[in-house]
Amino acid sequence: MHVPANSPEAVFRLNQTEYEAKAIAVLRSGRYILGEETRSFERGFSAFLGGGTTVGVASGLDALTIALHVLGVGPGDEVILQGNTYIATALAVSRCGAVPVFTDPDERFFMSPKNVAAAITPRTRAVLVTHLYGMMTPMDGLTSLAASAGLLLLEDCAQAHGCRWRGKKAGLFGDAGCFSFYPTKNLGAFGDGGAVVTKDETAAERMRAYRNYGSEKKYHNAEIGVNSRLDELQAGLLNVKLGHLDELNAIKRGIAERYLKELDNPAVILPAVIPGAENVWHQFVVRSAARDALRRHLAGRGIDTDIHYPIPPHLSGAYAFLGLGRGSLPVAEKLADTVLSLPSFVGMTGAEISAVVDAVNSFPG
Ligand SMILES: Cc1ncc(COP(=O)(O)O)c(C=O)c1O
Repeated sequence: MHVPANSPEAVFRLNQTEYEAKAIAVLRSGRYILGEETRSFERGFSAFLGGGTTVGVASGLDALTIALHVLGVGPGDEVILQGNTYIATALAVSRCGAVPVFTDPDERFFMSPKNVAAAITPRTRAVLVTHLYGMMTPMDGLTSLAASAGLLLLEDCAQAHGCRWRGKKAGLFGDAGCFSFYPTKNLGAFGDGGAVVTKDETAAERMRAYRNYGSEKKYHNAEIGVNSRLDELQAGLLNVKLGHLDELNAIKRGIAERYLKELDNPAVILPAVIPGAENVWHQFVVRSAARDALRRHLAGRGIDTDIHYPIPPHLSGAYAFLGLGRGSLPVAEKLADTVLSLPSFVGMTGAEISAVVDAVNSFPG
């Protein structure tokens, strides 16, 4: 049996006729940018989250960049991140002219409030937490720290559509939540897309103008903006998928529950499940000191895996200028050397899940 690492077209096939009908309707509408599909998605996504105003943009990276910029982060500022995040989180900070400050996460993949507190300087403007792998960060420590230090709090929710902490959805904890709709995400489009969600109505208005050349009203440009709009075709297709997101997340949760129950190999560490956190399991990531051997063992049984992510941003060429060598973030580096993402996708069969379980459990270590 061959088990792929992912299968985005299986999500399409699940509701194929609805997507096809929507695509044809948008094509025939004659309205392709900033029309009713985008407005309806923005309303629908806020309703799904249970609060905030949604501004649709062209990608997750743009969502992060626009949120940081409009909230006032710029040259001379520092933004605190966790060292195991995807590099796009840091790129957004750099695009604003600010400096990403990487902090060591804890071994459960979460941003560490203790390490964040130690990284605060007079130049710190914001804390940007990533709910990596669709695993919800315990938010109590970070929200109180940001409030007491007078810092902006932003969430990178690119992998966390529908996660909750103590019942409240990811994206609503701070000044802005930033989402990606890259095709493989839990709420993935059929191309690029993203959104910022904020409870600050004035900021939302400015983001809406900024994404559209800084134009509040046609041909009235209050500031130097960008072109970063969620297009009508993607918004229409996202409207269809949003209607199914709870079931899609439930499928991912079902796969994770089987893995958590059935994986049983002392050489493999399972992801930590935290009381109060509801995960959407964008990825199911295990750890092993013998990760590369485990990966080869699985490949030998036809099981594809992935590594999210093999090089932490601070060790990438892009951030070499920060001068953070190997050893500067020991936990982030250890995670990069030991994490392995098991297949976990909508459309995965029970037999495929069993094949992964058997293969992992038979790994000699
Ligand atoms: C954690 C994280 N942040 C940001 C991004 C960037 O999103 P996009 O690819 O839509 O620009 C991604 C996805 O690629 C991501 O996983």
